[in-house]
Amino acid sequence: MALQKISVAKQKAIAKLHKQGLTYRAIARRVGVHFTIVGDYVRGDSKPAPQKTDAEIEASIRAQLKRTAASPADLAEVLSVKPGQVRRLLAGMERRGVLLVKHPDGQFEMASTINIAPGRFELRAKPGQEQLYGITSDNHLCSVYSRLDVLNAAYDHFERRGIRHVLNAGNMIDGEARFNKTELLTAPGMDNQIDYLIDKWPVRKGIVTHFIAGDDHEGWYAQREGIEIGRYMERRAKDAGREDLHYLGYAEADVALRCGSGASVMRVVHPGGGSAYATSYTAQKLVESYQGGEKPHVLIIGHYHKFEHGYPREVHCVQAGCTEDQSLFMRKRKLGAHVGFLEMRITQDAAGVINRFGVEWFPFFDRGFYEKRFK
Ligand SMILES: [Fe+2]
Repeated sequence: MALQKISVAKQKAIAKLHKQGLTYRAIARRVGVHFTIVGDYVRGDSKPAPQKTDAEIEASIRAQLKRTAASPADLAEVLSVKPGQVRRLLAGMERRGVLLVKHPDGQFEMASTINIAPGRFELRAKPGQEQLYGITSDNHLCSVYSRLDVLNAAYDHFERRGIRHVLNAGNMIDGEARFNKTELLTAPGMDNQIDYLIDKWPVRKGIVTHFIAGDDHEGWYAQREGIEIGRYMERRAKDAGREDLHYLGYAEADVALRCGSGASVMRVVHPGGGSAYATSYTAQKLVESYQGGEKPHVLIIGHYHKFEHGYPREVHCVQAGCTEDQSLFMRKRKLGAHVGFLEMRITQDAAGVINRFGVEWFPFFDRGFYEKRFK
């Protein structure tokens, strides 16, 4: 039978008192456990349990917190480790974006991606000043279909134009699923894909990429590993010396465009579901679905791999295209891929109202077009 878990300190105390020749009952009274537990430890293994590694303890913490909420002290007791060690590991997990919720009573619990609050950020501009933004989305790095040539051309253009802020509506990496296994350039594993991203994502002086994480592709890792993947990507990039990848939020984030005495809202989203037959339909339905007072002024939409600028209900809807060629998955479902990137120009008045808006699309074609494969 497995030994009932008691703290390492208690195990040590039992071993010490047993050496001194005390009876099980006397030891039990001193240590504060039942005498049968003393017997179990003396007969079974009077030596303290071997030290577990941080990774092993973290795995046990995750398993415990998936089952039920617990305080650091509870966890320390159950896992036979010091409370300080549990607190240190919990802090590290939070820092890396592990999906932990902390309840008001100090107990922790594992959450799901549904519990992630929408992201918030803000940018400032002067009234009448033309603001330039770069936009790319659905880059799917690590997939054989990903177009690093287009992505680099985009950032070359942004740099030439003096753009400082680039927005990304998700799917920077391809993630892993049963059906994309044979299409990946990297070995299996979330960290391998993130290493590739950190290595290949264009670095241009003065440019920051503000990105959201999709709840598919990179989001598959979020769901499987219980981690806020975008936060983890940003953290890994920072640790590697890259300060230019700024995480906005999971699946959705609002960026307040502050100007003069007011602001307009730019929402960046990575919705779900498949493409509609009409390219504009998904954007229209998305805007229609927002409750009164919730509509943004600009909506940057990823996921569908389409380019479009529409104006349903006076919202500038910009579908952000992609930098990934049409995959077999998309071909089978008759889904087109609009490969390219965007420059967006916004001007606001002294009350923050957008009074001038433009997008310019830079189209690219399938890799085969440039390799003269289609003659
Ligand atoms: Fe995508």
